[in-house]
Amino acid sequence: MIKKDSPEIMKIRKSVADNVPIEWVKVHHLADYAYFDHSRHVKSGMGCATCHGNIHQQAVVRQSEPLSMGWCLDCHRNPEKYVRPKSEITNMDWKAENQEVLGKELVATYHLNPKQDCSVCHR
Ligand code: HEC
Ligand code: HEC
Ligand code: HEC
Repeated sequence: MIKKDSPEIMKIRKSVADNVPIEWVKVHHLADYAYFDHSRHVKSGMGCATCHGNIHQQAVVRQSEPLSMGWCLDCHRNPEKYVRPKSEITNMDWKAENQEVLGKELVATYHLNPKQDCSVCHR
């Protein structure tokens, strides 16, 4: 079943009819002087929900975390507080039974050692 008259669906119809792509409204946005790359994080056992919150429960996406330098560094200093099994990266509902024990184990297994030098994020 499709809500034909929904205003959101009208936007898609209009986009197709006018042949003009729908504009991507960026919600998460770092200043250009800070370098960030997803692949390194996702491959290191950092879950989407850790940095983006419970996106699956948001009708309209909002920024859940500050994305500030202090926020980046808190995790670069203590990745054991946040790391999860790589199989659970996209699982929005995952929770560790005992993060204190699991975190230390995974940091060792995945050989995590995030850098804190200025030049890592400011190139
Ligand atoms: C370590 C933190 C971190 C993790 C983990 C992470 N992201 Fe991000 N994500 C960010 C940051 C920071 C930005 C903003 C980047 C920029 O502006 O250059 C971003 C931007 C995005 C955007 C663009 C958002 C917008 O508002 O336009 C999408 C989509 C996205 N991430 C999806 C994902 C998905 C899917 C995953 C899991 C597979 C994921 N992210 C995991 C930190 C993270
Ligand atoms: C939830 C934890 C977490 C957050 C938040 C996070 N990072 Fe990371 N970051 C990591 C881990 C883990 C690695 C991989 C370290 C490794 O492979 O040894 C990493 C790696 C990186 C790298 C590659 C260089 C390196 O250390 O090996 C860059 C660049 C980076 N992060 C930038 C950022 C920036 C910028 C932010 C904030 C916008 C951010 N990160 C937030 C956990 C995090
Ligand atoms: C893990 C990544 C990371 C590291 C390491 C890092 N920064 Fe940052 N820095 C950021 C992010 C992210 C921002 C904020 C970007 C934004 O607000 O969009 C930032 C912002 C800044 C700003 C602007 C502050 C302001 O108030 O506007 C300065 C200056 C700065 N960093 C200097 C440094 C110096 C000096 C170091 C080394 C001692 C350093 N940074 C290390 C990620 C990092």
